Amino acid sequence: MSDLMEDPIAGAHKEAEKKKQPKKARVISESLKKFREISAKAAAGGPPEKIAAQKAKGKLTARERIAYLTDEGSFQEIGLLVESRCTDFGIKDKHIQGDGVVTGFASIGGRKIALFAEDFTQLGGSLGLAHARKIATIMDMALAARMPVIGILDSGGARIQEGVDSLDGYGEIFYRNTKCSGVIPQISIILGPCAGGAVYSPALTDFVFMVKGISNMFVTGPEVVKAATGEEVDFETLGGSMTHASKSGVCHFVANSEQDCFRQVKELLSLLPQSRYEAPAPEETKDPENRKMAILERLCEVDPRRPYRVHHVIWWLSDDHKFLEVHHNYAKNIVTGFIRMGTQVVGVVANNPAHMAGALDINGSDKAARFIRFLNNFNIPILSLVDVPGYWPGVAQEHGGIIRHGAKLLYAYCEATVPKVTLVLRKAYGGAYIAMSSKYMRGDLNFSLPVAEIAVMGPRGAIEILFSKQIKEAKPEDRDALRAKLAAEYSEKFASPYQTASIGSIDEIIEPASARERLIGAFRILSGKRRPGEHEHTGNIPL
Ligand code: HXC
Repeated sequence: MSDLMEDPIAGAHKEAEKKKQPKKARVISESLKKFREISAKAAAGGPPEKIAAQKAKGKLTARERIAYLTDEGSFQEIGLLVESRCTDFGIKDKHIQGDGVVTGFASIGGRKIALFAEDFTQLGGSLGLAHARKIATIMDMALAARMPVIGILDSGGARIQEGVDSLDGYGEIFYRNTKCSGVIPQISIILGPCAGGAVYSPALTDFVFMVKGISNMFVTGPEVVKAATGEEVDFETLGGSMTHASKSGVCHFVANSEQDCFRQVKELLSLLPQSRYEAPAPEETKDPENRKMAILERLCEVDPRRPYRVHHVIWWLSDDHKFLEVHHNYAKNIVTGFIRMGTQVVGVVANNPAHMAGALDINGSDKAARFIRFLNNFNIPILSLVDVPGYWPGVAQEHGGIIRHGAKLLYAYCEATVPKVTLVLRKAYGGAYIAMSSKYMRGDLNFSLPVAEIAVMGPRGAIEILFSKQIKEAKPEDRDALRAKLAAEYSEKFASPYQTASIGSIDEIIEPASARERLIGAFRILSGKRRPGEHEHTGNIPL
């Protein structure tokens, strides 16, 4: 009879006998020893000199990054022992376990996530077929089990020794990025080089994080640029974090250090649902819903042309004055980000009079449209704060395609079926008034402050067109007074919220001080408008 089939009572007697005898040293079986040795070697990553080189660049290793990002002890690795099958250039003989990427599942703030972290200390984190398959595997599982995917990228790109296999690997990842788009949140953290076509995986995800002095993204590096165009440019200027955060718009969040970056990722994640089949979790607050909005009372008192940062309004509207801004450095004329109102997550889209007078332009339209589509995919209601004088004029805008890009904003608002609440703060003129979640974009509840100017165009522009003959015919010294009189008449009749409210294009003109309470109430009224997963699925195409 084997040990396993032993009579349980006789077995219990034997155990009692054993306890009486002095303890012997524990013998670890050979197979267990081998398993532990192999696992420890694989988990160590690249050789010590490569780890030292990584540290010398001020970078953490892949596993340290995972430890910082995830809840302690929560990481469950998948594919630790996967190796490349490539026989060229001696890759297989090197037995690089893990193949330059650590993949698995973990929790962040108690919520499960899938993640991969490229390991630059192994073959420069380059992507071969096995490496790509590891990433694809956890993406497939994340999609099936409905959880966000977080990728940490630190790689020399396509593994040159594996030829087209590496390109195929990227193709598989791009395909999955697209399939996951709008179904589960996808976050990319660039913590090293990210070059060539490799940049397109992060670009297909919802949010890209970069760290100053550590992250680079470019399709062709400085040397190729110099050979092709003669331009001399360094890595940071060509594709560093600030370049992508402020010029190209590829990067949504910039951090000062890797640790700062992980803190930001955690904050973002706390505001998102696990998938499009859920809504973000509420968060309790002691901030009174009826907290008075003195800032909006002041806005009603100052010169309507005085610029201000709309961030102040957002901070005062939100629970505990918290606002996670997305794309802070890009297209500053429109502000996008997440707040909570009455415990619930709300996405804010706001014109920002402090920059370009808050006018809509190409970059601002793209930025807002993509954010709105993200919110709609993930059941996050939209608050639009309107203070917009129109579209930014100019040949560059027309030739750059403001018609095509501006249309994306219209499309995104019209398409969105999540609750949409709009507050017109001051100006809402012309086509930009329609675009900014007006009733005709199917804004659900549209409010305005008493000082709002809602009209086909601003009074000054309007009177120059309507009364050009009278102004020309007036004596030069009388013209300014005439203009002021006509503008006042126009404003009284058209540039106020009363005409708009009388035809129902604004639902209510509200008391500025009670704006927070009214908006929270509006979102509460609309909370049953759409249940998660009910809307027709659209991906979050990079606009
Ligand atoms: C194989 C690579 C590699 C790659 C780096 N390594 N990139 N191995 N394929 N693509 C290896 C190096 O040989 C070296 O190996 C180790 O990684 C560390 O690289 P170093 O050059 O020593 O590091 P560093 O000085 O920090 O320079 C980092 C780098 C540089 C700037 C990323 O390595 C580089 O320029 N790599 C090539 C980038 C590139 O052109 N990739 C292909 C892009 S095309 P040892 O053995 O010395 O440790 C592409 C197409 C994708 O990606 C298309 C997708 C659709």
